Amino acid sequence: MQLRAIRGLKVEGRRVLFRADLNVPLDGQRVAEDGRIRAVLPTLQWLLDRGAKVAVCSHLGRPDGRVVEELRLGPVGVRLGELLGRPVPRLGVCVGREVQEAVSRLEPGSVILLENVRFHPEEEENDPEFARRLAAPFDLFVNDAFATAHRAHASTVGVTRYLPSYAGFLMEREVEVLGGLLENPRRPFYVLVGGKKAKDKLGVLTDLLPHVDGFLVGGGVAFTFLLARGDSIGRSVADADLVDTLKDLMGKADAQGKKIHLPVDVVAAPEVSAQAESKTVPADKIPPQWMGLDIGPETAAAYARIVKEAGTVVWTGPMGAFEFAPFARGTKAMAEALVSSKAFTVVGGGETGEAVEKMGLGEKFGYISTGGGATLDFLRGKSMPALEPLRAS
Ligand code: 3PG
Repeated sequence: MQLRAIRGLKVEGRRVLFRADLNVPLDGQRVAEDGRIRAVLPTLQWLLDRGAKVAVCSHLGRPDGRVVEELRLGPVGVRLGELLGRPVPRLGVCVGREVQEAVSRLEPGSVILLENVRFHPEEEENDPEFARRLAAPFDLFVNDAFATAHRAHASTVGVTRYLPSYAGFLMEREVEVLGGLLENPRRPFYVLVGGKKAKDKLGVLTDLLPHVDGFLVGGGVAFTFLLARGDSIGRSVADADLVDTLKDLMGKADAQGKKIHLPVDVVAAPEVSAQAESKTVPADKIPPQWMGLDIGPETAAAYARIVKEAGTVVWTGPMGAFEFAPFARGTKAMAEALVSSKAFTVVGGGETGEAVEKMGLGEKFGYISTGGGATLDFLRGKSMPALEPLRAS
């Protein structure tokens, strides 16, 4: 997919609405993980260096169309200013006279931050009048919010009806790397899949099956697979409604000669807590009052051997409840296996990206996608509404 790029565009003195996905985790008034902010800096800096007048627009969290004080973009603006090396003034609104006036006062090469666009219900409704008001103070729209590209909202799709619209460098890179995975991956191609919700991952696995050579399954998702296989999973969290669908998927994989690898051992405990008593047990014999909370060492070693021989590995979802030390080993072991493999390694899904950054291994992966749901939707070939208006004709 070719997108309309900003390279070659004259932006000096032009008023640019810059949509980024700055939906980052906060720790009170501090940004806890700034990967998504750093990811849009090349585009932002490019615009500023060429004398554009830029207003950055983003959502933060899910305020459901009303003002939620904890979801104001203040801490994001502070971090953005630190990274740019200059303060970024933040407006308390994203539409209306105040924005119009602030934008008209901007000097070439300067930047402001608009308030959380999801404080307005019209944003998620993709309301045309709201989109017109968002677009009104500007000459151009640049969209670098790949992580929101699966949403048809006023600030991602609606505004493109009113402004010449372009893709930023991050948007281009995400589409190039993820698109390449679907078209021509280095083989064998495996997806290491974990995370809590089997329901969220199921569609992805089904749609990816034709493209991959196999899946390595860990995290919460694994227990629904184990249940479908008829194992004793104790009190592990599993989605009984999905059992038939997973049986079907396993049948399809078999018929296509693809392998779905499941854990052979798991770390189990009677409760999820940092102090919990825990032990490693065979994956098909979790004691009745216990729950599986991480992949075990044998599983991690087996998956590491497969990863070592792989051509491409996409990793989405942690292998266990890694926020708690007793259940973090599987995620850490897989991160280490991936970075020491010669495979092209791609991390997709917000939580996995955060885990990798926290371990200080971010730089060592082939590519870390900024998207969560967007990355998975892209990989499964779902339509990405915010990319359509940016297509080069
Ligand atoms: C994300 O974190 O995946 C994106 O910012 C999109 O957020 P949403 O799922 O609330 O639309």
